[in-house]
Amino acid sequence: MSDLVPPGSPSTLLAVIGITGDLSHRYLLPALAEVRNNGHLPADFHLLGLSRRNVGSAEVLTTDELKSSGLADVLDIYQIDLDNADAYNGLAEKVKQYNAEQIIFYFAVPPNAVDGIVNNLGKVGLNSDNVKLLLEKPFGKDLQTAKEIISNIQNFYSEEQVYRIDHYLAKEMSQNVSVFLGGNALFRHSWNKDYIERIEVNVEQDAGIEGRAKFYEQTGALRDIVQSHALQLVALTIAEPCSSVFEFTQLPGRRLQALRSLRLAHNQEGKVAGQRAQYQGYKQEVGNEQSNTETFVRLELYSELEKWQGVPISIVTGKALKERKTEVRVQFRKTEASETNQLVLRIQPNEGIEIDLWVKEPGYERKLKKVSLSFDYDKNFGRIPNAYEQVLVEALRSSKHLFPSSDEVLASWELLQPLQDQWQDSQQPPTIYPQGSDPSQIG
Ligand code: BG6
Repeated sequence: MSDLVPPGSPSTLLAVIGITGDLSHRYLLPALAEVRNNGHLPADFHLLGLSRRNVGSAEVLTTDELKSSGLADVLDIYQIDLDNADAYNGLAEKVKQYNAEQIIFYFAVPPNAVDGIVNNLGKVGLNSDNVKLLLEKPFGKDLQTAKEIISNIQNFYSEEQVYRIDHYLAKEMSQNVSVFLGGNALFRHSWNKDYIERIEVNVEQDAGIEGRAKFYEQTGALRDIVQSHALQLVALTIAEPCSSVFEFTQLPGRRLQALRSLRLAHNQEGKVAGQRAQYQGYKQEVGNEQSNTETFVRLELYSELEKWQGVPISIVTGKALKERKTEVRVQFRKTEASETNQLVLRIQPNEGIEIDLWVKEPGYERKLKKVSLSFDYDKNFGRIPNAYEQVLVEALRSSKHLFPSSDEVLASWELLQPLQDQWQDSQQPPTIYPQGSDPSQIG
C-alpha cells in the first residue's frame, strides 16, 4: 500500500456525473485506471457512473487499458435524468447503500448543467460534510457569472467541500515551480525586481479547437486559457515562497496574493494592452462567418507587489500555432559587469528547466560564449504522473493546494474584466493569422 493513500484511508465512493462524456473518457477514467494500477486508491473504493442513457460497463470502459484496469470490479452504473429534481431521491438512496466515509461527485458535464445538478444534489441532502464536489472549468464567463456560480454552490456546500480543477496547477513541472524557486538559495534570493528584468508565460498549442466548436465559440482563448491556466502560472512564478518547500497548505494563499497584485498594462491611448487574433479557417470550422472569438491572446501585465515593481509580465497563448509549448521564461538583468541570463521552466512538453549562462570560449581570444545547462525530467526520473492522476490523488486525500479557491477564481476574473469589456465594445475584429504561425509574427 502506498504512503499516499495510507492504510485506514476513508472508504470512498467516486460518483462520475456524465460518465460516458468526453471529459470522463479522455481524462478522468484513464487517470483513475493509472492511479489504481499504481496502488493509490483506497482499499474500499467504488466508482458509480451516472448516465442519462441506459449503458453497460462496456460503454464506459471502452479502451483496452480501461478494460484491463480492474475498474470493472468497482464500477456500478446508475441511470438518471439529471434535469429531473425528483430523480435525485433515488440517487441519494443509492449513494447511501455504499456507506462510504467520503463521497466525491466529479462533474463531467457541460458548464451550463452544473448549477442545476448542484442544487438537486444539495436539496436531497447529498451535501453532508463528507461530500466533495470535483468541478471542471470554466467557472463562469466573466466576473458576474463567476460570482453567481460560486454563491449558488455556497447555498449547499462549504468552500472546503469544493475542488475546482485547474489541471495546469497539477502538472508535475507546475508543482515544481514553487519547490524549485523556493528551495534553491540561488533563486530564492534573486527572485525579485533587482535581478529580474522580465517574465513571460507562453501557453502555445499546435492543435486547433479539436471539434469543440460550440464550447469554443462561447469561450475563446482569454476565458479558456488566460483566466485559469496562464494566470495561475504567473501566480506561481511571482508568489512569495512558502516557509518551507513542502508547506503546500500555504500555496493557495500565496497564489491569491499574487493574483490580486496583478494589473493589466495600458497603452498610450489608455486602452488595455491586449491583442487578440483568430486563426485562418476558424470561422468556417465553427460555421459562423461573423465570429469574433479569439484563438490567440497577447497580454502585458505588472504586479503591484513591492518586490516586482517595474517588471513587465507577458502572457501569450494561442491555438493552431507553430508548436506545442508551455513555458515560463525569465530574463535576468544585465549589468555593466555581467551579461543577462535566462531561465526557462518548461512546463510541457519535454518537462524540465534550462538556464543560459556565459562562459569563456576556449582559445587564445577573450570571448564570451552562451551555453545552456539543462535538466530534463525524462533523463533524471521515470514516468511523470499526468495532471489528472495528481488531481485525483490530491482530492482523495483531501489536500486542496492544487485546486484554485473561489477567491482565486474571482481575482482572475476581476483582473480580466476591463479587457473583456473593451473587446465587447470594440468595433475592431481580431486579426487573422495563418495556421502554424510563430507567435512573434502575430500582431
Ligand atoms: C483545457 C482547454 O483546459 O486545456 C483546452 O479547455 C486546452 O482548450 C487544454 O486545449 C490544454 O491542456 P493540455 O494539458 O493538453 O495542455
